[in-house]
Amino acid sequence: MHLSLEALSKSFGTNRVIDNVTVDFGELRSLALIGPSGGGKSTLLRIIAGLEAPDSGGFALDGQHVGADEESLRAHRLHLGVVFQAYNLFPHLTALANITLPLEKVHGIAPSAAEEIAREALRRFALADHAHKKPAELSGGQKQRVAIARAIAIKPRLLLFDEPTSALDPEMTAEVLDVIEELKNEGRDFLLVTHEMGFARHVADRVAFLAQGRIIEHGPAGELFAAPQSRECRDFLARILRH
Ligand SMILES: Nc1ncnc2c1ncn2[C@@H]1O[C@H](COP(=O)(O)OP(=O)(O)OP(=O)(O)O)[C@@H](O)[C@H]1O
Ligand SMILES: [Mg+2]
Repeated sequence: MHLSLEALSKSFGTNRVIDNVTVDFGELRSLALIGPSGGGKSTLLRIIAGLEAPDSGGFALDGQHVGADEESLRAHRLHLGVVFQAYNLFPHLTALANITLPLEKVHGIAPSAAEEIAREALRRFALADHAHKKPAELSGGQKQRVAIARAIAIKPRLLLFDEPTSALDPEMTAEVLDVIEELKNEGRDFLLVTHEMGFARHVADRVAFLAQGRIIEHGPAGELFAAPQSRECRDFLARILRH
């Protein structure tokens, strides 16, 4: 993908959360967004996901400018798969129905074809035996794998992950990170907000450090972690790596 942000700004009340960000990340397969809590990572991811409209400016994906009007956002959202920290599964629906519902209602796929796609996605993540279960009957790792299965079922051009493992214990974290790595090896493009620095370094081509609504620096993962250029990023990494 080619991702660029163009004078992008977003405020909540008087709080300027994304502060006039212009950056061209260039051609990349996977981008990790790191930075301190409250720095604007989730807001930026939601804007790129088309779930939040910027106040001004915009962004372009593969040279295509995405506007702030609802029609352009809706068209954009159709090609994305999004996975959040807290699963966002429909609690009253089975794992299977969580995947078929958007395929039918948003993508207009016939029920029988949607079920076939959903069963295949569940099989792929070793969830075939859990298809009939509701989220409350699944473990955290299983829920998150259902969320990932749902995200890839539509064959998105880009996957967006917002801290997909932060609600999980270490074993389940490893399970979900394995799945993400697998998707990367398959050649899927993704954008990942994460606190897992080791994983970001391992799996992302590029890393962007976002603090106080600005991209303070970005670069190839190996370089940024080995030799951060800004004091903010150096301090952030030192703080994180101390623990
Ligand atoms: N819907 C909202 N309404 C009001 N303020 C919001 C909203 N969403 C985010 N904010 C504020 O925007 C700022 C950035 O929040 P954001 O969630 O983007 O940060 P973050 O970098 O993802 O933090 P974390 O690492 O804790 O998830 C915070 O000050 C937050 O309180
Ligand atoms: Mg966040």
